[in-house]
Amino acid sequence: MNKPLIAANWKLNKTIQETESFIKEFLPSVKNNNEVEIVLAPPFTSLYIANLALKDSQVKLAAQNIFYEDKGAFTGEVSAPMLADVGCSYVIIGHSERRQYFNETDDIVNKKIRAARKHNLSVIFCIGESLNERQMGLTFKVVQRQLKEGLRDIELYNITIAYEPIWAIGTGKTATPEQAQEVHSFIRNWLISNFDNVGKEIRIIYGGSVTPENIKSLMNCPDVEGALVGGASLKADSFSKIVNYKF
Ligand code: 13P
Repeated sequence: MNKPLIAANWKLNKTIQETESFIKEFLPSVKNNNEVEIVLAPPFTSLYIANLALKDSQVKLAAQNIFYEDKGAFTGEVSAPMLADVGCSYVIIGHSERRQYFNETDDIVNKKIRAARKHNLSVIFCIGESLNERQMGLTFKVVQRQLKEGLRDIELYNITIAYEPIWAIGTGKTATPEQAQEVHSFIRNWLISNFDNVGKEIRIIYGGSVTPENIKSLMNCPDVEGALVGGASLKADSFSKIVNYKF
């Protein structure tokens, strides 16, 4: 098993002040946790202050999105060099909310992954099926298409795959450990058959209604190597229980 990665995706939440007070409360509780790679993904407006507040800790900073050009006339966008400049070492790409509300296609996701990698940002690459797709028996087909198109012509390093079934996001309906393991193992086999042994070293994490109560049973699955946490990462107390699941 690779070293687990547990990331907080705050989505459209928290002011600068709320970010600072979260970090102040959170850091002491994870001071001795070197077993898990811990990542926080605040909104863009909080990245600068979060970077300062995390400076003396092991906790890493992620952005929730990126644009694929470095600079130019792209109003409203933020680029990889800008994210690296503000202290990010990670970026979340391809989240289902971006695919759904901002029309991000597999092709755009692929371009974003390339842009991130060009500037040495590690990528948390999100994939996952909708409820309808699951009910129609299309889960593996959808996940395979997202992997194939998203990773097209990309060398496999500095990437974490986040399996986030859309029906489990923000719904309280977590995938059962069996459901998560089934898809994670499919992803693992796909990675190995397309990238040989390198595929074994790629972390596959789970997202979708992860809580302090269910993290242990998910982490007991052989191919679940961490979590991408939304709602339960907004309170320092609950997110620290999740990252400290071993203690
Ligand atoms: P919830 O943990 O709120 O279900 O969100 C999951 C998610 O989308 C993380 O990226």
